[in-house]
Amino acid sequence: MSDLSVKQLSKTYSNTSEQIAVLDGLCLEMNRGENLAVIGPSGSGKSTLLQILGVLDPPSSGTVELEGKNPFLLSENQQAKFRNQHIGFIFQDHHLLPQWNVLENTLLPSLAFGKATPELQKRARDLLDRVGLSPRLGHLPSQLSGGERERVAVARALLLNPTLVLADEPTGNLDSDNAQKIGRLLLEVPKEQNTILIVVTHSLELARSMSMCRELRRGKLVEVT
Ligand SMILES: Nc1ncnc2c1ncn2[C@@H]1O[C@H](COP(=O)(O)OP(=O)(O)O)[C@@H](O)[C@H]1O
Ligand SMILES: [Mg+2]
Repeated sequence: MSDLSVKQLSKTYSNTSEQIAVLDGLCLEMNRGENLAVIGPSGSGKSTLLQILGVLDPPSSGTVELEGKNPFLLSENQQAKFRNQHIGFIFQDHHLLPQWNVLENTLLPSLAFGKATPELQKRARDLLDRVGLSPRLGHLPSQLSGGERERVAVARALLLNPTLVLADEPTGNLDSDNAQKIGRLLLEVPKEQNTILIVVTHSLELARSMSMCRELRRGKLVEVT
């Protein structure tokens, strides 16, 4: 069995007059160390897919199993724990806390256990060093450029060495130089740590540098032709 196994995943949104099937029998199998680019036009369901894989939203039907566990069978509390332990999420608008500095924002996932241990403090500093932010540890998000904020979000997502890292258009708001740097980082660190990486992107360059690329079309992931 694959480390990530998605079977017959469907998601339907209903508004007043109709039901919209955004995902419709989507299947995906991935193992640790593999990475996947998901492309597709706006509105095709890319963010919906990531929200479900990130256990932020339940599917209408179908199953998701990560290392043999279906998180949607857990209680809400256990789901939050599962998300914290197994999943790193990089949002396009990075969701950094404005009143917290770079180091504190990176340590955010460790707060679920109370205080960050010295090991996690060291890991946060190491990751921030990897992303070139050592000279910025005490800066607030408002004092950073867009590319720097995105790099903090990458470091934070990797802090607890998650099984699955999900990134929703991580380079969407960046200039091409910064986009390339983030792309390289996203590929490098998860590869070393044997993580499953799924990136939604409009960048063909980033998509081509990943080991697999699929298009979301009519609710399913299909080979890119
Ligand atoms: N919470 C929601 N309620 C109703 N419709 C939604 C909701 N979230 C997304 N949708 C619809 O689902 C479709 C896919 O959205 P989304 O996953 O954000 O696409 P993408 O990320 O590929 O641009 C869109 O038509 C969108 O309007
Ligand atoms: Mg989207």
